[in-house]
Order: sequence, then C-alpha cells, then structure tokens
Amino acid sequence: MSDPYGTFVRTGPGRFLAARTGLPQPPRLRRYVAGEEWAADPALVVGLSGAAWTGQVTSWLREGGTAVEPGEGRLSALVADATGLRTVDQLDELLTLAPAFRRTRGRVLVLAAVPGDLDGPQARAVQHGLEGFVRSLAKEARGGTTVNLLRVRDGAGTALRSAVEFFCSARSAFVDGQPLVVGAGVPVAARERRVAVVTGAARGIGAATAQVLARSGHHVVCVDTAGAGEALAAVANRVHGSTLHLDVTADDAPRTLAAHLADRFGGADAVVHNAGITRDRSFVNLDEAAWRSVLAVNLAAPIRLTEGLLQHEGALAPGARFVCLSSVNGLAGAKGQTNYATSKAGLVGLVQALAEPLAQRGFAINAVAPGFVETPMTAAIPPVQREVARRANSLLQGGLPIDVAEAVGWLAQPDAAGIDGQVLRVCGQNLVGA
Ligand SMILES: NC(=O)c1ccc[n+]([C@@H]2O[C@H](COP(=O)([O-])OP(=O)(O)OC[C@H]3O[C@@H](n4cnc5c(N)ncnc54)[C@H](O)[C@@H]3O)[C@@H](O)[C@H]2O)c1
Repeated sequence: MSDPYGTFVRTGPGRFLAARTGLPQPPRLRRYVAGEEWAADPALVVGLSGAAWTGQVTSWLREGGTAVEPGEGRLSALVADATGLRTVDQLDELLTLAPAFRRTRGRVLVLAAVPGDLDGPQARAVQHGLEGFVRSLAKEARGGTTVNLLRVRDGAGTALRSAVEFFCSARSAFVDGQPLVVGAGVPVAARERRVAVVTGAARGIGAATAQVLARSGHHVVCVDTAGAGEALAAVANRVHGSTLHLDVTADDAPRTLAAHLADRFGGADAVVHNAGITRDRSFVNLDEAAWRSVLAVNLAAPIRLTEGLLQHEGALAPGARFVCLSSVNGLAGAKGQTNYATSKAGLVGLVQALAEPLAQRGFAINAVAPGFVETPMTAAIPPVQREVARRANSLLQGGLPIDVAEAVGWLAQPDAAGIDGQVLRVCGQNLVGA
C-alpha cells in the first residue's frame, strides 16, 4: 500500500530528478484532519451573468469559518456561479476567472444549471459546455487543486449548502473534474442515535468508511466474513461500533441483516454496499467460478440485501440512504476485468433503477466510483501495471481509502438529500476514459 516513487519524488533529489527528466510530480494532497484548519487563505465567490446563488454561498462559507474576500494573495477556494449563463457570448465571462484561478490552491467549484431543465438549444448547449470547461480546468490545475461542477436544480437550498461545504473542503481531496446534480431533496431530521451498516468493513475502503461514519455520529455495524474476524473486531473497536459476521452472498444474508438492524437498532439510517472482490483474468481465460463469484459478491448481494432491507419492516430508519461502491473500471471498462466491470456497471444500473421507487418511500441511493485507491485489492496488481494505474489521473497519485470514505460519508448524511440516483467518481480525474 506504499507509493515509493511518490515518497521519493517529494525529497530534494527526487524533485530535482523529476524536474530534469519530466517525470510526474504528484502534489501532496491536503486531507481533512480533525481540529486542523484547512482553509487559512480566503475564498472568493464570483457571480457571472444571471447568478442566483452568490449571496447564499458566501454566507454558507462564512458561517463555516471561511473568510470570503477578493484579497490579493492565495485563495483556498474559488466558487463561480455560472447558473445564469444562457448565450455563447456570455461564455466569454469565464475568461474573467483566470486571474483568480491562478491564485487558487485548493478548490475550484463551478455552479451550473441542469441543461435539461432549460428551454432553447443555445441555453442548453452553453450550460453543457461548462462540463468541458470544468474537466479541462481540472487537468490544468496545479498543486493538488481540484475543479468540480455542481448542476443546481431550483429549490436545492439545503442540499446545495451541504455540497458546497463538501466540495470546498479537505474532505473532497481526491474528487476532481466531476459533475454532480444537486436537486431539491428534503433532509429528514437526524435521529439522535444514527446507525450505519458497512459491508466489507474489515479493511480498506470499508474500514475507512466506518471511521468517517463514526466521526459523524453513527453507530457503525461492521459487516464482514467470519474469516475477517480479528480485523473486523479491531475496526469495530476503533469506531466504537459493533460487528456482524456475514457472508453477503449467503442465502439467508438479507434476512439476517434486516432482522439484526430492526431488532437491535430500530433500523439503519445509512447502508453502504462496500464488500467487493476481484478475480482478474482475460475474458478467454475466465472460468465460471471467477465469473460467478465476482457477480455474486459485487452485484447480486447488494441487490438482494437492498430488497431484503426494503421488505423487512423496521430494517430501515426514515430517510435511510444507500451508497454502493461501484468503480471507474466499471464505467470505463478494464482489460482483464470483464467480470468486475460487469458487476460495477451493474451497480450503476441498480442505483438508477431504484432511485425513484426508493424516493417515493423517502429513501435515497447513490454510487461512488473510486479510481485507483491504495488498498490490499490494488496491492495485488502486478508492479508495473500498478504504477501506471496509480499515476493515470490529474493528481498523479492513487487515492487513499479515506478519500473514498469521505465521499461515501457525505452521501450518507441527511443533508445530502438532494443527491439521488447519481454516481460520484472519487478518482483524481482518472484518465482511463468512459
Ligand atoms: N481499491 C480500489 O482501488 C477500488 C477501486 C474501485 C472500486 N473499489 C471497490 O471498493 C470496495 C472496497 O474495496 P477495497 O479496495 O477496500 O477492497 P478490500 O479487498 O481491501 O476489502 C474488501 C472487503 O470486503 C470483504 N468481503 C469480500 N467478500 C465478502 C463477502 N462475501 N461477504 C462479506 N464481506 C466480504 C473482504 O473480507 C474485505 O474485508 C469494493 O467494492 C471494490 O470493488 C475499490
């Protein structure tokens, strides 16, 4: 799970060598540390023609302790409200952002309208164009600065605040070049004792997710196979949660989990389908076992568990939020991973299919698609292939489990109510395409 090149290149000789030879120089990412001030520099909020949110965004940032002022030095965040742009001529206004962009070391966030909500081809084209702008700017940003796009629906108030806070914070360190729609969801009042369940919690992303959910006040039910015994107990102890030994593919897993949550906890507020496996082989060499096991754990289990929880009275608390762990490889395809990519793209289909029926019952479901993350799963990739995969993103490094966990933790909160049926990539703007 180490990145020897990344460590070397941050030393004096490493920096010198990389600069002379043009080797990648991954920036040090600033992540959330409890009690540590992240944004010492001020933020700047810029409203372009027809901007609707600048006043609100400014007060949200100020209420969160960030100074919002033009200043002359570095900026920790630049928020540009482009929701009102409707004509190609108005796109010229984006050029005015260049000086502030040059001064920003942290977060750039562009607010846009949802093209499908607008009338007229020009307005739609212009708003769609912002996606290309943001994705390109993310590739030009330096020093670990990220650039993302929020497409804001009318009435997005609370959810927009929560999204602005997440995207302008250290918690989104590895989310880069991504668009996300923020709708008008109504957050359910948080229960006094919130409960989250995380499958595959014994290590990697699952363990980090348990930590983040515990930090935001959840009792975390840490689920993993019996074989993960000690590691699972260690995670549960660390987060003051509890354990449940469960093979998510077992016939009775849905009933066991649902009864456990209903009887012991009065239902779950957040359900994270994280357990996943790989059995990489080229398609022609794939045997049935490698195909079936990956689809069973990664796709069939989340489908069955979700159905089981929905059917069992009391297994879910009002406003419960599901998060599925998909994968950038599922969106883009990956050599040697036909089985894995089928399962992970399948989860996107599951999220899209369930969003509406779940919303009718007051629940929500989203997916997070990690890119290359430093975990035991990726440590198993052959070294050269691993090094290439690790650098193939705009931040030139692999993410850490905590990066994915922060995004999952945010989407699991009631405040994220306006985010539903979507896929958020946590991949440093992975360059594999899709
Ligand atoms: N690591 C990455 O780069 C990466 C990238 C994209 C997506 N993901 C996805 O994120 C999730 C977590 O990945 P990770 O790298 O932390 O994996 P990991 O291999 O480190 O951990 C997976 C956990 O799932 C558990 N698990 C496996 N089968 C299970 C079963 N049948 N029942 C219960 N638990 C089971 C394992 O015991 C393990 O603790 C997976 O769904 C993975 O596909 C990971």
